[in-house]
Amino acid sequence: ATLLASTALAQGYPERQITMVVPFAAGGPTDTVGRLVAERMSEQLGQQILIENVGGAGGTLGAAQVAGAEPDGYTILLHHIGMATSETLYRELPYETTTAFAPIGLVTEVPMTIVARADFEPADIASFVAYVKENADTITMANAGIGSASHLCGMLFMQATESPIVTVPYRGAGPAMTELVGGQIDIMCDQTTNTTEQIKGGTVKAYAVTAPERLEILPDLPTTAESGLPGVEVTVWHGLYAPAGTPPEAVERLSAALQSALADPGIAEQLAELGTAPSPAEDATPAALEARLTEELARWKPIIEEAGVYAD
Ligand code: MLT
Repeated sequence: ATLLASTALAQGYPERQITMVVPFAAGGPTDTVGRLVAERMSEQLGQQILIENVGGAGGTLGAAQVAGAEPDGYTILLHHIGMATSETLYRELPYETTTAFAPIGLVTEVPMTIVARADFEPADIASFVAYVKENADTITMANAGIGSASHLCGMLFMQATESPIVTVPYRGAGPAMTELVGGQIDIMCDQTTNTTEQIKGGTVKAYAVTAPERLEILPDLPTTAESGLPGVEVTVWHGLYAPAGTPPEAVERLSAALQSALADPGIAEQLAELGTAPSPAEDATPAALEARLTEELARWKPIIEEAGVYAD
């Protein structure tokens, strides 16, 4: 019966619209990637993919919603490096990261930039670090909650500069960016998918990029490594997941649609303008995402335990 059901499902799947949960508020970097990819995937699948923004708790609320969803192929989750870090940051997660999801594939890997409100005094990264060390208790740093990429980058930055800055969590880097541009918050470490336009538009001031190499689109921005902050290196890999138990035929169909979407020249162009690139087809597969998640769970556990930073 199961084989029959899943075969029937595969022939007809998808028969109705699919929900893609983005575990952060609309308008942020994860939402930007989600909408770009969902639009192209729905063309491949012949069904609409509806974005549902479920913010809160650094992405773990949205992840929990998908972990508990019907495993029928009609609910998927776009999440990023936070899927790995939250497993250690939250000692009481309502789901088990390694068993609650069916990986579909890697999507993109986004560098981060250390930015400040446009009128922030320091002129360059060296004076920025000196200023932060001097004034940590009066500076405010935004993030998208414990478990977010902005939180992780901020944590690494605070460790490297030994500066316990006051952090302010938002339901996503979208709302946080609005307040940074408005000058209500001082600094943030955020993904280029959310900061490139603001940096080019001069509405925020950029100090460094957290990638191993400088970015083509922001050639004058030094890397953290060349700026005396070698430990502050974060590339935000993004993966697409379904709830565990989703029929393999549906997972395969979603992975194939993801691979086609990522091969679309328009996607590559749009992501390049935002400082990133689509994952290659061989990485947009369940096995590749499974392997990356396993690797990252092991990588960040000791770093977070060493920092002694927990959400609960
Ligand atoms: C984060 O982890 O900082 C998120 O990407 C923020 C967001 O997408 O809103």
